[in-house]
Amino acid sequence: MAPDIAALSFLLSVSTTADLSHHVKVFAGTLNGGNNFPGVARPFGMVKLGPDLLNIGTDSYSGYLANGNFSGFSLMHEQGTGGAPKYGTPAQLPLVGTISNPLSSITVPRSSKPDEGSVGYYKATTGQDVVVELAASERAGMFKYTFPAGSTRNNILVDVSHVLPSFRGQGLGQGYAGGEFQIMSDGHYEASGVYNNGWNRSPDWTIYSCGYFNTTPTTASSFVGPVVVRGVASSTSSSVPVGGLFTFDEGAVLSRVGISWISKEQACRNVNEQIPETATFDNVVQATKDAWNSQIFSKVTTTSTNASNLELLYTSLYHMNLLPTNKTGENPGWESTEPYYDDIFTFWDTFRYSTALLQIIQPTMYEEFIRSTIDIWRHDGYLPDGRSSNYNGRTQGGSNADNVLADAYVKSVRGKVNWEDGYAAMVKDAEVPPPNTNPPDPMAPEASTKEGRGALPDWLKYGFITTKFSRSASRAVEYAYNDFSLYQVAKGLNKTADAAKYLTRSRNWRNHWNPKQTAIGFSGFVVPRNETDFLPVNPLTDAGYWGDATYQVTSWGNSFGDIHDMAKLVELMGGRDTFLARLDATFTPGANPANPNGVLFDATNEPTFNIPYLYTYISLPNHSVQRSRHIAKTLYTTTPTGLPGNSDAGAMQSWLLWNIIGLYPVTGQTTFLIHAPWFESLTLELGEGKRLVVTSEGGDGTGDSRIYVQSVRVNGVSWEKSWLVWEDVFAEGGTLHFVLGEEMVEWAKGEVPPSPAS
Ligand SMILES: *[C@@H]1O[C@H](CO)[C@@H](O)[C@H](O)[C@H]1NC(C)=O
Ligand SMILES: *[C@@H]1O[C@H](CO)[C@@H](O)[C@H](O)[C@H]1NC(C)=O
Ligand SMILES: *[C@@H]1O[C@H](CO)[C@@H](O)[C@H](O)[C@H]1NC(C)=O
Ligand SMILES: *[C@@H]1O[C@H](CO)[C@@H](O)[C@H](O)[C@H]1NC(C)=O
Ligand SMILES: *[C@@H]1O[C@H](CO)[C@@H](O)[C@H](O)[C@H]1NC(C)=O
Ligand SMILES: *[C@@H]1O[C@H](CO)[C@@H](O)[C@H](O)[C@H]1NC(C)=O
Repeated sequence: MAPDIAALSFLLSVSTTADLSHHVKVFAGTLNGGNNFPGVARPFGMVKLGPDLLNIGTDSYSGYLANGNFSGFSLMHEQGTGGAPKYGTPAQLPLVGTISNPLSSITVPRSSKPDEGSVGYYKATTGQDVVVELAASERAGMFKYTFPAGSTRNNILVDVSHVLPSFRGQGLGQGYAGGEFQIMSDGHYEASGVYNNGWNRSPDWTIYSCGYFNTTPTTASSFVGPVVVRGVASSTSSSVPVGGLFTFDEGAVLSRVGISWISKEQACRNVNEQIPETATFDNVVQATKDAWNSQIFSKVTTTSTNASNLELLYTSLYHMNLLPTNKTGENPGWESTEPYYDDIFTFWDTFRYSTALLQIIQPTMYEEFIRSTIDIWRHDGYLPDGRSSNYNGRTQGGSNADNVLADAYVKSVRGKVNWEDGYAAMVKDAEVPPPNTNPPDPMAPEASTKEGRGALPDWLKYGFITTKFSRSASRAVEYAYNDFSLYQVAKGLNKTADAAKYLTRSRNWRNHWNPKQTAIGFSGFVVPRNETDFLPVNPLTDAGYWGDATYQVTSWGNSFGDIHDMAKLVELMGGRDTFLARLDATFTPGANPANPNGVLFDATNEPTFNIPYLYTYISLPNHSVQRSRHIAKTLYTTTPTGLPGNSDAGAMQSWLLWNIIGLYPVTGQTTFLIHAPWFESLTLELGEGKRLVVTSEGGDGTGDSRIYVQSVRVNGVSWEKSWLVWEDVFAEGGTLHFVLGEEMVEWAKGEVPPSPAS
């Protein structure tokens, strides 16, 4: 076949970058709550095409499960999130035989062959021996079906009503609310579906789709429920599905499908531009691999040849760069020339270290993402904390977009970012209580969980949050962090009075400090309170949920939360030695007598992920290395159960990546804590030809042994501080060289990292 323009553009997209994608294990962290998405997608792609498994009673957050039947293969998924599933729509499902009522929630068992996947490619075999292979561009997907030899009634069901269900009984299950399906005169189909709810309690959203087959079916029928209709199949009822059944004699069928949030026309444009008729399946797979290699994997390279560490590195990079979703031009009802990113799921999870890593390895994307985040405030009135299906929600703690914006501001993200608007958006969070969610969130009915700071009335009135508001103690810790973020940006913009005000407010977590609250010999904790009194808690066991005072964190962990005020925290906890003893107790098995085999540290959830590094604030970076390396090396692998908790849009993987690099970001400040790198050499491409090269000698090259720093050089100069700042090695690039060894020695003799609020 002569190459035409479209085929040529695929050829041109083939880069000379080395193929690092073969290190990625797409099934890593898919099970045991990791919820990683194993299907096919481009970096930040709007289409995430993968299998949907139905196992009654078990929520499937990213479509994939170890058990269950295939209910479809759908174009939209999240990555690694918890709470309740989102998306799983629109779907196709291959079915062999005579199908009289295709929209009756048919599922097909799996075959004995396990699913296979690699970057850009997915393969599953159904119990009817149909092979389904998947590939994707940013906004379109390709399905390659191979039916069993000799089979003639080969059907492909297109189900507009398909979504990932929830069985948790929390009222967060997604719904289908109607749709349209039409087979056009040339044989392609156009559809729209309306869906609602899911984890962020979103009202109706609409997905348009446009699908083509490469061969003519023997019959093609549109259905409204069980009824075949001519023309447009249409339903406005949640109980009446719409879709189509295409029946083929042939055993090999290719389907191309585009989606859009705007219109059917745009869905058709998306597929015809990105996966034109001339595209082969292999073209699309290869273009996806190339995109990952050139946009993501080539940004982090190492001289290490250790296969398991390379797998961990590139698999982590893969799963952290699937979200947020680049939906530029796909924001219905907006007149905007700004970029648009959705599926922020959620800043509560990602603000500590994930967004800081995105900035470094994806500076172009990150500037777009910051502009988009501010543009969401312009259009919706508030910055998002969580967001999906174009709808803010839910907000679990503070307004943590403030921390992300502050981090970007202090690290000089400028370009086309309008920082006066960015700051105005942050002031809205800090000053204007959001109207309550309508209807109120049944899990926290007293104030908004959609956006902003629901407990702001107390914060403004008292400088603390009473138990009139749910999650009061964990929100107080986060609101203080958020106010510190306002201080940082106000200071940069020369808003002196605001800066002073928010710095003062950033210390208000101290108003929750009960010096008399004790646990296992330690006294002084952040606790819930009413107008006049502190309330008693059990700091070891009080991790709660939406309606409780501490959300997904114990008072033990929550008390460590305000990293901008660490010197004060050390003082309140009783000084350096007691602080050290308390950190040690956090990691010592059996420190909590009620849990003799467990530790107080919760490696499964983000709010306490800074704690292993806090030793650095008392000049013991060696202990930070010991604790954080133990967690990284014992709890993270590339097996399907290889994540300690929900990936949460790649937040977990980002934590691991910082551990591999040897630095840890203090979000909202320019500070990076220095611990120790795993490899002899690792290079981060920072954009515009700048790079940070991290080298080491004396270690074992894998980060398993001889992990302790003996000495450090920054840009060739001997370094005695346990931290550095953005300008040192990131603004213009730089070098870090570590001498590593067996023994913990005193290498960090300089000042401790800054505590700007103390
Ligand atoms: C899976 O498929 C089998 C065989 O068709 C069926 O008996 C079973 O009920 C299905 N399970 C689910 C969860 O749909
Ligand atoms: C995001 O999508 C838009 C529209 O397709 C594109 O122009 C832009 O380059 C994308 N951003 C990145 C970082 O790829
Ligand atoms: C803030 O003031 C300093 C000192 O006058 C000046 O150099 C800087 O450009 C100002 N920054 C802004 C954002 O106006
Ligand atoms: C506050 O809590 C204390 C201690 O439990 C209690 O005695 C007091 O009545 C509470 N005050 C209010 C206003 O609820
Ligand atoms: C590769 O690294 C892993 C994990 O750090 C280690 O267990 C293994 O021994 C290393 N393999 C070689 C050949 O060094
Ligand atoms: C860690 O280093 C400090 C000095 O920086 C030293 O006092 C301490 O003993 C070291 N810890 C261990 C367990 O060796």
